[in-house]
Amino acid sequence: MTPDLLEQGAKRYEARLTALDAARLNTEAGGQTASYGRVVQAGEVDVTHGRILYLEDVSVSFDGFKAINKLSLDIAPGELRCIIGPNGAGKTTMMDIITGKTRPDEGTVFFGSTIDLLRHSEPEIAQLGIGRKFQKPTVFEQLTVFENLELALKTDKGVKSSMFFRLDSAHSDRLAEVLHTIHLADSVTRQAGNLSHGQKQWLEIGMLLMQDPKLLLLDEPVAGMTDEETARTAELFLTLKGKHSLMVVEHDMGFIKTISEIVTVLCDGSVLAQGTLEEVQADERVIEVYLGR
Ligand SMILES: Nc1ncnc2c1ncn2[C@@H]1O[C@H](COP(=O)(O)OP(=O)(O)O)[C@@H](O)[C@H]1O
Ligand SMILES: [Mg+2]
Repeated sequence: MTPDLLEQGAKRYEARLTALDAARLNTEAGGQTASYGRVVQAGEVDVTHGRILYLEDVSVSFDGFKAINKLSLDIAPGELRCIIGPNGAGKTTMMDIITGKTRPDEGTVFFGSTIDLLRHSEPEIAQLGIGRKFQKPTVFEQLTVFENLELALKTDKGVKSSMFFRLDSAHSDRLAEVLHTIHLADSVTRQAGNLSHGQKQWLEIGMLLMQDPKLLLLDEPVAGMTDEETARTAELFLTLKGKHSLMVVEHDMGFIKTISEIVTVLCDGSVLAQGTLEEVQADERVIEVYLGR
């Protein structure tokens, strides 16, 4: 990506911040600017331009149908970005592109300002620090909560090292911390198959957190949850932001209202509107294609 593009992206973001009450955003997003001005270490993502994720003019067609159409979007470090939009808007496909599952026909996808995600495979992208939660929970039902989290540490290791894998103290500390974060500290020995739907979703988020991802992509995380589970998930996400950057796709407007700062509305594979939830809810185009129905 050229420095020009980055500068433009950063400028767009500056403008947005002013419009969105910069003071409020800065406090709520905690670590949003935490990495500014630091020297980048090996294995870290360079966010000195203020973006952890940067998409520019991304398009992909399936059998001639443009599922993603000149999509441009960027996210700040520590930000919790909500994505809404009608079914078929391209939300899941966008996540497929970011995670390397689908290759776009054209466009730019950067992680920080130096990592070109289009040059990396799906497993490499996970290694780089992008975790993804699919719509359905995919925990190992026969294993306990503890074993599921333990296993999440091993996934990037070879079979041999997995067999001889032992939790060291740093890993045990991390596991305890994650258990607490996902509200499952009292359920360590429970079999995952016996958890409620919401608890399974939290466990899967916990498995992602074991890898300490820099960016988390969450596709419809509260679908099928009870109201109470949804409320606890909102709390969970609010504790994660700042430490991680999050991109959350959801249809549940109450949930979005609780967690959102900037909301991006996708439609027909590109950004239709972006702003606070109030702003996009008042947008005639958004009402027409999504909210009004
Ligand atoms: N692998 C694929 N092959 C063909 N069409 C696809 C594929 N993935 C997505 N699509 C189509 O792309 C459009 C966007 O889908 P999707 O990203 O799942 O939307 P959303 O998640 O916003 O509901 C839909 O019309 C869908 O049918
Ligand atoms: Mg989808």
